[in-house]
Amino acid sequence: MTGIQSYIARIDAVEAQRQRIYGTASGGDIWGGTAAQTFRADPQRELDANLTVIASYLQPQDVFVDVGGGAGRVSLPMSHRCREVVSVEPSPGMAEGFRSLASDNQITNASVILSSWLDTGLDTKSISGDVVFTADVTYFVRDIEEFIRGMEGRAKRRAMITVWSQPPPNRSAEIFQLIYGERLEALPGYRELLAVLWEMGILPDVRVLPDSPWWESVPTSREQATDLALRGRWLKAEDQDRARRLVDGRFDELFETGSEGFQPKWRPEMREILITWETEQRLAI
Ligand SMILES: C[S@@+](CC[C@H](N)C(=O)[O-])C[C@H]1O[C@@H](n2cnc3c(N)ncnc32)[C@H](O)[C@@H]1O
Repeated sequence: MTGIQSYIARIDAVEAQRQRIYGTASGGDIWGGTAAQTFRADPQRELDANLTVIASYLQPQDVFVDVGGGAGRVSLPMSHRCREVVSVEPSPGMAEGFRSLASDNQITNASVILSSWLDTGLDTKSISGDVVFTADVTYFVRDIEEFIRGMEGRAKRRAMITVWSQPPPNRSAEIFQLIYGERLEALPGYRELLAVLWEMGILPDVRVLPDSPWWESVPTSREQATDLALRGRWLKAEDQDRARRLVDGRFDELFETGSEGFQPKWRPEMREILITWETEQRLAI
């Protein structure tokens, strides 16, 4: 199997397990609602260490295209550091979050196009940027080759991809196994993505960024710790009570109790990985 085929097979295995356990395909805006709220962040905040590295690749005259930009967590702060920001985002809930944050903060050089990056209806010619960026999206993309080709073809200077060293949905694997008695099929992460890029003839720079996940904290009460273990779309509503009893029964195996709170033992340390390459050199080939 090639790297691209393995990537697709990973996503198909995740989807097959999801359909078997949860039933028919989930329609609607899966990134709207609560998820869209989680990804909202103040566009005027001071840049954290990871965003500082991302910003260091930008020039003041750049157009920054953010593929699956969500509620603008990355691109709205970048709008203060470049000429224009364009997000291409298929979720209406996320796009609404982006627009409202931009308007509340009087950001006039940022816009969002409501579309999948892979949508053939997208007027692809009109979308291009000096830098084409995507954060935390590739784990969910089955047609990864077309997605990457689209990034490269529309980036005048640089393509940038960030992924977490453990794809966030894979983080529940141990608890999932405890509740459902089977191994969670894992979404593809940086290893699988790099294999795809290499197969496509792309040799990117890979940088491990310094910050820990921005959304994670150590729970300070037993109740918070149990809530954390069971957080996520993977747990069916009807399994909540059974799952709570199971986690409670194994609490000391699952959490390390210390002065700071209850450290989940199943969560390995995790870092954001930046994968980036200059496209102008490749375009000239
Ligand atoms: C985990 S969120 C990340 C949002 C944002 N990049 C951030 O880091 O805050 C994943 C996002 O990918 C978007 N997405 C998924 N498939 C996509 C596709 N084919 N084209 C563009 N965006 C996509 C979703 O709508 C969602 O907003």
